[in-house]
Amino acid sequence: MKEMTANDDFERFRTGAAKYAAYLETPEGRLRLDLAFANLQDFLPQATRSLHALDLGCGTGAIAVRLARLGLHVTLLDASVPMLDFAERAGREAGVTERIALKHGDATQFANLFHAESFDVILCHNILEYVDDPCAVLCSAARALRDPSSIISVLVRNQAGEVLKAAIQDGDLAAAEHNLTAEWGDESLYGGRVRLFTAESLQAMLLESSLAVAAERGVRVLSDYLPPRVSRNDEYERILELERKLGRRPEFAAVARYTHFLAHRAGPVTKDGA
Ligand SMILES: C[S@@+](CC[C@H](N)C(=O)[O-])C[C@H]1O[C@@H](n2cnc3c(N)ncnc32)[C@H](O)[C@@H]1O
Repeated sequence: MKEMTANDDFERFRTGAAKYAAYLETPEGRLRLDLAFANLQDFLPQATRSLHALDLGCGTGAIAVRLARLGLHVTLLDASVPMLDFAERAGREAGVTERIALKHGDATQFANLFHAESFDVILCHNILEYVDDPCAVLCSAARALRDPSSIISVLVRNQAGEVLKAAIQDGDLAAAEHNLTAEWGDESLYGGRVRLFTAESLQAMLLESSLAVAAERGVRVLSDYLPPRVSRNDEYERILELERKLGRRPEFAAVARYTHFLAHRAGPVTKDGA
């Protein structure tokens, strides 16, 4: 597979923004958003004052706008201008423009972009797959959490889910076997490759970043494999409710398409960020 550079990565998100927005309207896209947001809502800090959130790699801003609707002030960072254009429009249509701030930038430059201890909520939803050093991004994000009640929400592509997808959805047994140990998968939406995580690899990164896991969830356990007679649109609410239950149970979460961790800062931030 051809090696991708950071510029290739940014390019695919620049040209693929409309495709991504369209995917988020599909039942699969909606489920990923709705499940991730429901998991996050269970862990939002108590709002005794106005809360500040940061959405790293915000994409079209779908989750950020939901947080803004709840009254949070949200900074949206993305390296793709077309993605930020979608986010800006979403904020305007939701009437939350005054509570969102759009920032064009590279999450790997986090330390130069944001101050330590400045956010109550940080989202890293499907961005760590595309950076060279996910642990470095997590370390910087950990330093930017305000206090021990602050929460970081990390959603990543799950290696085990790629095994089931290849076998059940594509009927590709060779790919299923390959994916058992694959560190990279194919990005079907905009091409290129995507880093795959295991719950263990992500947990180790969180630990290294001085983050303590509050909860682990699976996102989209079986909805990708339902037979065609089950209408994804007509049965959406039932599928969502079932997925909520499955995603909380470790035996099902282990094979979900996405692994979702909610974590707190493990201790005080020291001068060198350790
Ligand atoms: C798969 S999309 C996820 C979008 C959004 N977080 C969501 O959950 O719908 C990945 C996003 O991360 C952005 N991205 C990738 N690498 C980035 C980087 N180094 N800095 C900032 N944004 C980045 C892309 O432009 C894209 O909008």
